[in-house]
Amino acid sequence: MPRRLSDKGFMSSAANVVIHASQFPESVRRDLLESLRTRRVNHKFHYDSVKQTQKWLALHQAYSPARNDADCAAIYDRGFAAAAARVKSKAVHVVGLGCGGGQKDARLLKLLRAGGREIFYTPCDVSAAMVLVARQTALAVLPEKNCFPLVCDLATADDLPATLASRFTFHVSRITTFFGMIPNFEPQIILPKLASLVRPKDLLLFSANLAPGNNYAAGMKRVLPQYDNPLTRDWLMTFLLDLGVGRGDGQLRFSVEAGSLDLKRIVANFHFTRRCRIEVENETFNFRAGETIRLFFSYRYMPERVRKVLARYGLEICDQWIARSEEEGVFLVRRSGVSEERR
Ligand SMILES: C[S@@+](CC[C@H](N)C(=O)[O-])C[C@H]1O[C@@H](n2cnc3c(N)ncnc32)[C@H](O)[C@@H]1O
Repeated sequence: MPRRLSDKGFMSSAANVVIHASQFPESVRRDLLESLRTRRVNHKFHYDSVKQTQKWLALHQAYSPARNDADCAAIYDRGFAAAAARVKSKAVHVVGLGCGGGQKDARLLKLLRAGGREIFYTPCDVSAAMVLVARQTALAVLPEKNCFPLVCDLATADDLPATLASRFTFHVSRITTFFGMIPNFEPQIILPKLASLVRPKDLLLFSANLAPGNNYAAGMKRVLPQYDNPLTRDWLMTFLLDLGVGRGDGQLRFSVEAGSLDLKRIVANFHFTRRCRIEVENETFNFRAGETIRLFFSYRYMPERVRKVLARYGLEICDQWIARSEEEGVFLVRRSGVSEERR
């Protein structure tokens, strides 16, 4: 393999990336058809193309409190420090689920390395482009041989624990990160999967978007403008426009609705105002005027609801940090019912 000289010495000019079957072309095609058939778009299709990734990054830059609010950025740093302080082993494997560009994971890796541990990293995302960006970010902190990029759909992959464990012949503590992900999954689908990755001595560090204040409904109303804005509309509409739908074929509307497990979420539905046809390979989908397709949802939790929902899946919060705005929280989580001696 040709090698080039980087700031840190010789580095391969190719990357080994594992593609899980959940992101093989036939699986992606099946999921796309399912999205159109059910009129409920799987969120992963908003991160598919370079164009969508760039639009999402612009939106994230403009609206993400973690990027624009120093106090919110600080809750992540506190979470990273607390997680690093709890790791007793000499080797630790960070698994970044839905890693995006991997900037947050890299901050955690840096802290863990400063403690003199050997660090391993699996950036895992549905988007190969994101995984490669996260890998690149992480290579500033760890050697290439310790980085195992994985492209995978977390909602449909059923064998992640085995896939991750197969990397090691010896015990390595694991910290799984799940930042900015929980809002876009049905909790009853994703939480059992997350729980299956947290072994008795492992940690899970995740962030949740919160509804601020004590009144859930009022808090949801307050955050609605963070979604109903031109950058978000442009990003979400890209999915439909790329399938041949015209901007004039309907309207994108945002609202608050009741989701599962007594939680509330913001939804973005596209309401067709005239007939429209989408063709994907040899399948045709006809939309009538008045029909809707759900493009997006985002659950907003309240801290005590996070605790309650996690408990259903055998997970407990050991520490939490809530931004002063009360709009975002970072939670350090472990398997419940494991005594301190066994950890
Ligand atoms: C809101 S971003 C969060 C990125 C990063 N964790 C952060 O906090 O900046 C969501 C990420 O999840 C990925 N994603 C969406 N659906 C996914 C799925 N089903 N499985 C794995 N990754 C997914 C997207 O590609 C995107 O990188």
